[in-house]
Amino acid sequence: MTISIDSARALDAKDPLAGYREQFHLPAGHVYLDGNSLGAAPRAVFDEMETAVRDEWAEELIASWSGAGWWMLGEHLGDDIAGLIGAPEGTVVVTDTTTVNIYKALHAAVSVRPGRTRVLTERRGFPTDSYVAEGVVETLPDVGLVLVDVEDEGFLASLDGSVAAVLINHIDYRTASLRDMQRLTDAVHEVGAVVVWDLCHSAGVYPVDLTGCNVDFAVGCTYKFLNGGPGSPAFIHVAERHLDSAVSRLRGWWGHADPFAMEEHYRPIEGIRRYMVGTQPILSMRALTASLDMYRDVDLEAVRTKSMSLTSLFIDLVEQECAGHGLELFSPRDAERRGSQVSFYSENGRPIMAAMAAAKVHGGYRDPGVMRFGFAPLYISHADVWEAVARLKHILDTREWAKPEYAESAIS
Ligand SMILES: Cc1ncc(COP(=O)(O)O)c(C=O)c1O
Repeated sequence: MTISIDSARALDAKDPLAGYREQFHLPAGHVYLDGNSLGAAPRAVFDEMETAVRDEWAEELIASWSGAGWWMLGEHLGDDIAGLIGAPEGTVVVTDTTTVNIYKALHAAVSVRPGRTRVLTERRGFPTDSYVAEGVVETLPDVGLVLVDVEDEGFLASLDGSVAAVLINHIDYRTASLRDMQRLTDAVHEVGAVVVWDLCHSAGVYPVDLTGCNVDFAVGCTYKFLNGGPGSPAFIHVAERHLDSAVSRLRGWWGHADPFAMEEHYRPIEGIRRYMVGTQPILSMRALTASLDMYRDVDLEAVRTKSMSLTSLFIDLVEQECAGHGLELFSPRDAERRGSQVSFYSENGRPIMAAMAAAKVHGGYRDPGVMRFGFAPLYISHADVWEAVARLKHILDTREWAKPEYAESAIS
């Protein structure tokens, strides 16, 4: 059956999340399908920043560290995120970048499995993961790094008693493939190793259940589907059973048991706060505060349902409207196995995405040829999906993308 704009509108008419769109600032005429890179701005951020800058920083100055709750903000935001990723309060803190938190999490993971000699991470995961893992094992003379493909059945066979820790992406950044957290965590535990999950592409858009899956460590960023703003700080989760025993190798005064005693030596504070290192980016955290406040009443099951509906509609429409232009689906066809993103491969992917950006449809591009479209269910509608595909069809049918100005465009 042919899909029409009316069928897209009919899906929007019964969308329980439709009301959230008004809570975002979305530039008129644009279709923003890059929320998997940088989420749109929640309108509440404008007032939150105004208050943080004018009332707290400008007026109250340094008194705001305690008076406005700046000092404890990372823990409070961590508790908010805990609720979105199925973790208990007190096991998540918002701090630093995902990259830095991977460093802390991997070291902590290895520290709870002394004597083991291998760390595993993905060959084709987000590159920062293996870069950090290389740096971690270089500090550990008896530990080596092995790059694996977690979607290959051979991965399970490569697990044995020499493995200390495995770092896995929950949703792959290029294909949007969603990994089975329960199955992989169980397999890692079966050989006595611990697991670190990178939740960058699932936090806020998928009902992650860290406790249910018995996950050991997790990290993730807040500027994608959590809409915290450019460079908003990341989070790190450490399961309660590891909180006292795991060693955080990146140490600073913010994680000290008595930070203002200015002691000569490090003594870790109790709990998750020891994963904080130094002074935190309070203004960025305040932008995130505004976004997470909105998330308090968001039903993540409804978000997941809509996410699958949006991505399925996009695939169906591209295949209906753009057939014959050489686009190949680069994401799982089964919605249950897909995150909130769809990737298509085209040898002309780069100029097509540049022409799309000029036509005000914003997606992402990764060499070689991978066109990425992210669908943030809180502010993207089925009618947006229709509009994006209509503009894509025009660009392909007219060969607009072949214009010289799109040949070498820098797009992210
Ligand atoms: C899966 C994944 N891990 C880690 C990172 C790195 O995050 P950051 O640059 O905030 O350290 C990203 C960034 O996009 C990512 O997608």
